[in-house]
Amino acid sequence: MERRGHPASAQARTVPEVGLAMKSIAVANGKGGVGKTSISASLAISLGEHGHKVLLVDLDLGLANLDLILGLKPETTLRHVVRDGVGIGEVILSGPEGVDVITGGSGVKELACLDKPQLEGLFENICAAGSKYDFLVMDTASGVGENVMVFLTRADRVLIVATPDPTSIIDAFATAKVLFGERPEADVSLIVNMADDEMHGKTVFNRFKAIVGQFVNRDVSLAGVIEFDENVRRATRAREPFILKFPKAKASRQIDALVEWLVEVPEERVDNEAVSILQRMRQVCAVFKRSEKPEPEVEAAPLREAA
Ligand SMILES: Nc1ncnc2c1ncn2[C@@H]1O[C@H](COP(=O)(O)OP(=O)(O)OP(=O)(O)O)[C@@H](O)[C@H]1O
Ligand SMILES: [Mg+2]
Repeated sequence: MERRGHPASAQARTVPEVGLAMKSIAVANGKGGVGKTSISASLAISLGEHGHKVLLVDLDLGLANLDLILGLKPETTLRHVVRDGVGIGEVILSGPEGVDVITGGSGVKELACLDKPQLEGLFENICAAGSKYDFLVMDTASGVGENVMVFLTRADRVLIVATPDPTSIIDAFATAKVLFGERPEADVSLIVNMADDEMHGKTVFNRFKAIVGQFVNRDVSLAGVIEFDENVRRATRAREPFILKFPKAKASRQIDALVEWLVEVPEERVDNEAVSILQRMRQVCAVFKRSEKPEPEVEAAPLREAA
């Protein structure tokens, strides 16, 4: 893997001592296979490169595969927390670019069958560990079950991933509808993944926004558009986050743009010169880091038919 920082390790690490107020971000979808895990991993790494302390958690309970995309072979996972009462700090691993990671167990019945109070307890446990970080990024499961909604309703921000496929948009709408039903003030944004281009992605978003406005009477924003990029698949096959494997690929740059949108200084803080300078320095450092690295050879532009 072409690392941009220190290498990933499957060793448990201790939770950092200091940090800022944590912001929790749940990456969700309706329909599975739309790129949620790939995006969660690259998003967390880009946040790390921008100078933020990030805890990335696999909450696709029972069908977790974030460890695969990160090339990690964890010895301890959420399974040990739930089944054996292991402390959450003991299952935090060091991932790429200073990102800390909690992996889930795959094919683990104990995780797949948690009831609501258990899910709530798990979330509280994770948040306690996450309070030492700037961002808690959660890769959640597909669908609108309790195993998803417990996390979506408690996150500061929900990023719903959808592809331009009409069934994906409808499933994304279903997720938003259930979420707003349970938490009307939820902060929901859409990531359009596998779009033909930026314009196509915006058209898809406008359709989604119109449906949500019409049927749920809520507003949603566009977090970003990520184009269909064969490099994302190549990176997945290589078990590496695409932002590290192909740092200059279009999809990687679009993740950076998404992160810049995500960490944008809120208007009331713009006056604070120190905050803006720090923010700019972080962005410049992230771009510099990437431009220093040689890009692996990228084949010709992908054909959608090859997907
Ligand atoms: N922008 C993209 N361009 C091309 N391929 C993509 C893109 N985003 C994701 N993919 C590919 O789509 C497949 C599914 O991605 P991923 O596993 O991240 O989806 P998911 O939503 O997490 O799936 P699941 O519902 O199974 O958890 C992977 O092969 C990945 O490489
Ligand atoms: Mg996934």
